[in-house]
Amino acid sequence: MIKEKLVIEYTCFNNLNALTSIQRELLLAAFNASSNAYAPYSKFQVGAAIILENGIILTANNQENAAYPCGICAERNLIHYCKSNYIDQKIQSIAISTRKNNMTRTPNAPCGLCRQVLVEAEINNRSDIELILGHPEAEIWIFNSCNDLLPLAFNSKNLNIANND
Ligand code: THU
Repeated sequence: MIKEKLVIEYTCFNNLNALTSIQRELLLAAFNASSNAYAPYSKFQVGAAIILENGIILTANNQENAAYPCGICAERNLIHYCKSNYIDQKIQSIAISTRKNNMTRTPNAPCGLCRQVLVEAEINNRSDIELILGHPEAEIWIFNSCNDLLPLAFNSKNLNIANND
């Protein structure tokens, strides 16, 4: 028997000041995008911003629906838009922010569905996507790779193994 251990590393910042100017710009773009979120049911407004390798910044937010499961999270909405319109552009970084800061000052982390979508986008990207989580007036966490939030993720290689059986 072998016991394995997974270690996740990320960097925590108390405020925006120590971020690079691009990281700061991206977090602020995500925060600003959260104000247009359509979240009348949860009242939890989330914004996301992506910077592509050509420097273009794209933003989106969560969109809810009276039939609750029809809603979509900000980051998943944005990744799908990005992969629909900028197929050849690598994603450098994604920031996710919420309109309201939570009680503990710590960032809200993406849901499981979004982690799965982020990981597949990162695999297709063929290079790591930096992940910036937080609020401009609270703590900010930076992960070097989206995979850090979903180690051992299910991916297309698993499907190939299943098909060969
Ligand atoms: N939500 C996001 O947009 N991103 C997340 O990472 C977590 C949750 C949205 C989904 C729903 O509209 C609302 O926040 C409450 O769950």
